[in-house]
Amino acid sequence: MNKKITFITKPNRKLTGTIRVTGDKSMSHRSIMLGALAKGSTKVSGFLNGEDCLATIKAFRKMGVEIEGPEKGNVTIHGVGLKGLKAPIADLDMGNSGTAMRLLTGIMVGQDFDVSLTGDASLSKRPMRRITRPLEQMGANITTGEGGTPPLSIRGGNQLSGIHYDLPVASAQVKSAVLLAGLYAEGETSVTEPAVTRDHTERMLRGFGYTVVTKGNCISLRGKGELIACDIDIPADISSAAFFMVGASIAKGSDLTLEHVGVNPTRTGVIDILKLMGADITLFNQKEVGGEPVADIRIRFAALKGIEIPEALVPLAIDEFPSIFVAACFAEGQTVLTGAEELRVKESDRIQVMADGLLACGADVTATPDGIIINGGTLSGGEIDSHGDHRIAMAFAMAGLCADGDIVINDCANVDTSFPNFISIALKTGVNIKCC
Ligand code: S3P
Repeated sequence: MNKKITFITKPNRKLTGTIRVTGDKSMSHRSIMLGALAKGSTKVSGFLNGEDCLATIKAFRKMGVEIEGPEKGNVTIHGVGLKGLKAPIADLDMGNSGTAMRLLTGIMVGQDFDVSLTGDASLSKRPMRRITRPLEQMGANITTGEGGTPPLSIRGGNQLSGIHYDLPVASAQVKSAVLLAGLYAEGETSVTEPAVTRDHTERMLRGFGYTVVTKGNCISLRGKGELIACDIDIPADISSAAFFMVGASIAKGSDLTLEHVGVNPTRTGVIDILKLMGADITLFNQKEVGGEPVADIRIRFAALKGIEIPEALVPLAIDEFPSIFVAACFAEGQTVLTGAEELRVKESDRIQVMADGLLACGADVTATPDGIIINGGTLSGGEIDSHGDHRIAMAFAMAGLCADGDIVINDCANVDTSFPNFISIALKTGVNIKCC
């Protein structure tokens, strides 16, 4: 990422209107992966045209999969079957995307060819042993960089065997990598999670006609089946919607509706947390689309109060903490987050980077090893560095709504990884933001 983008926000605006934010990132990645491995053509609508998901498309094109689009959110993937991928002639660059790299590794270990996966500066620092360990137990041969980070070199041609794996961390990416490798393994592969994590892989596999059994916290499948192409309607991403939920909750006079948002119960922690803080959030038009629950969400301004965030909600809101921290800064009283050390190994160290940025804007916050303590009040404004983390940049854009002065947010180019039209949607709702 070469271009330097800065956001500058000005205070005193409320959020109003009705918007649909971009498609779900987790489901968009999975739709390409499973569509490529299926027999037949899969038609996807609502696809997220962000850099992360485009990296996944590029990787599969390099492995011989014909993919049309994305064109206005529509993508058609001409699947090649589980064993139909071809050796790419170069490394596969997964950009900024941990999801793309970890899930793809699960697929790559089942192939007959060798492949190397690389990433940008941020991804190159992220832990990969969490996936290589279980995959090696299944018979995979993977070399990581020093310290267990990318690049990953994967030797093909190994016969995989199913394992039972007790996940040491609550991670949907690790669960998914193991299950995807399980498609290629002899016998049964099963994973037990320490806490519920997003279950899009399981749901989408079932949509492709694959049998996946979930019993309590244990998910299992048998290898060597077949995926059959299907149509997928991807709802709006609750993780992108979350910025606007927080913005409308903290900016006086706001009344905002977010349409067709994915409200899978493994993703709705942000709604639960904001409601515990006193937010006025209503779900309506609830329906099920392609095996995923969807709803319209109305958010009206409400006076928020600080809370102790229940640890059980942490994995269900794992990507939404940057904006939840912003909400806590404008709440009355103290908010305490614990049990969230995973935030330190996201696109940035989200505990430290948020604490630094909030302090620079005059907040009363203390970072802890596994969370943060925030004493609510207000923000003065200031200049912050997003460290190239899309969600940090967008969270501070919402903080700017209610700060006493301008907030200057540096290093925002990576907003394009998950929410390419963030600025135009933000302007439409009333955020006073400039991009330069
Ligand atoms: C994701 C899982 C989460 C989340 C990431 C997307 C997925 O990561 O933070 O943005 O699509 O499976 P972990 O599984 O590492 O918690």
